[in-house]
Amino acid sequence: EDIPLELHKVRVVQKLHLVPIERRLDAIKEAGFNTFRLSTLDVYLDMLTDSGTNAMSDNQVASMLQADDAYAGSQSFIKLQKAVEDVLGKKYLLPVHQGRAAENVICRAFIKKGDIIPTNYHFTTVLAHVLENGGKIEELLHDHALVLHSDHPFKGNMDIEKLEACIQKHGVDKIPFIRMEASTNLIGGQPFSMSNLMDVRRVADKYGIMLVLDASLLGENAYLIQQREEQWKENSMADIIKMMTGLADLVYFSARKLSSSRGGGICTNRKDLYGKMEALIPLFEGFLTYGGISVREIEAMAVGLRETLDETMISQSPSFIKYLVESLDKLGIPVVTPPGVLGAHVDAMAFCPHIPQTEYPAGALAAAFYLISGIRGMERGTISSVRDENGDEILADVELLRLAVPRRVFTLSQVKYVIDRLAWLYENRDMIGGLKFVYEPPVLRFFMGGLEPT
Ligand code: F0G
Repeated sequence: EDIPLELHKVRVVQKLHLVPIERRLDAIKEAGFNTFRLSTLDVYLDMLTDSGTNAMSDNQVASMLQADDAYAGSQSFIKLQKAVEDVLGKKYLLPVHQGRAAENVICRAFIKKGDIIPTNYHFTTVLAHVLENGGKIEELLHDHALVLHSDHPFKGNMDIEKLEACIQKHGVDKIPFIRMEASTNLIGGQPFSMSNLMDVRRVADKYGIMLVLDASLLGENAYLIQQREEQWKENSMADIIKMMTGLADLVYFSARKLSSSRGGGICTNRKDLYGKMEALIPLFEGFLTYGGISVREIEAMAVGLRETLDETMISQSPSFIKYLVESLDKLGIPVVTPPGVLGAHVDAMAFCPHIPQTEYPAGALAAAFYLISGIRGMERGTISSVRDENGDEILADVELLRLAVPRRVFTLSQVKYVIDRLAWLYENRDMIGGLKFVYEPPVLRFFMGGLEPT
C-alpha cells in the first residue's frame, strides 16, 4: 500500500466531538440541511474547507508574537512585502482582508459595464464581483475538463482556441483582463500546466490584454506541475512558482489558503496597475500597510509564504487527497480523478442518480453524509450556482460533494473513517432524497440558504 508519510509532528491539539446520530439529525435540521450552518460542536471532522483551517507551523505562531502593531508603516508589512518579492517575484503589494476583497478591488478598478472576463473557470466569489460590476464571465476550459472520471493531468487548462475565438468575438476593448485560476477550485481542485499558462500569456501579449492569476491555490498547482509535467520535474518549488507568477501581470490570493494564515493580497511589478487600485485599499480595506488584516496574521503570512516553497509541507495535503481519492475509486465510489488539491470531490450525480439536478444532489449528499458520519463537507454544485435574469436556476456543470483536506490537520486513521463511512452511504444511497430551498438569499445563496427535503 502506498502510505503517505507526515513530515511533521503534532504538538498542539484540539478536542473533537463525535455526537450521536440523534443529535446529528436535529443539528442538520436546525442548519436547514446546509452544512455551512452547522456548529462545530456538532461536527467530528470539519472537511468544509481549507480556508483559514490549514495548520500553522511553529515558526508561524512564533512570528505572531513579534508583530509590530502600528496603524501605518508597520515593520510586519515590510516583512510581508519582502516575502512577496522573494517568493512571488512582485515588488508592489496591496494588502486586503481576504481573497474576495482582492476580487472586489480588481473588478472595480478594471471592469466596466458590458465587459467580458475570459477565465479557465469561475470561482463563486469572483463571479459575484464580476457580475456586481456589470461584467460577464466566459469559461474556456477544454471539453475534457468536465469529464469527472479521467486521467488527464491538467484539467484546469484553458482552451487556447476558445480564448482566441472569445477575443475575436468580443474585441479587445471589452476584455480588461484574462483570469487564470491556479488549481481550478470548482471542478475538483484541478491544476493547469506551465505550458498552458505560457500559451495564455502568448495570446495576452498578442492582443495586449492583461493576465490576472488567482494564486489562492498556487503552491499545490506548482507542486502538481513538478509531479506531472515532464519539463519541470527537476525544478524546485521556488523556480516553478516564480515562473508562474512571472507570466501574470497581476497576482492575487486568499492568504487563508496560500500561506496558511489569514488575509490576502494583490501584487504586481507594474506601477500603472498598482496606481489604479491603490486608492481602493483605504476605502474598503484599511491603511495600505495592513489592509484589514491583523499585524499578527501579516507576520504569519510572511512566514507561511516562504514555507510554501518547502515540498515536505506543500505535498502533505495532495498526498493525503491522493490516498483518499484512490481508495474511494478502488471501492467503485464515483469520485473526481485524477486526484487534485484542496480535497476529494465526490460526483454526486453518479452517487445519487435518482435525485434530479433541480433537487440539488450535491447538497442532499452533503447533508446525508454529515448525518451518517459527523463529517462536514461542502456542496459544490447548483446550490453554489446562481439564477439567471428570469429567476431560473442555472444548473451547475458538475454536482460535487467536496471533502476538504486542510494541510497537516487530519491523521490517516481519520481519512480511513471518511472512506469507511462514504462506502457505507454508497451501499445505502437509495435512502438519500432531494432538497428544496425554503430561504434563498439573493447573493452567494449557498452560504446561509435554508433547505428542506422535497
Ligand atoms: N479564489 C479561490 C480559487 C478560492 O478558492 C477562494 C476561496 C477565493 C478566491 C476567495 O477567497 O475566501 O479568502 O475570500 N475559497 C474558499 C473555499 C472559500 O472554501 O474554497 P476568500
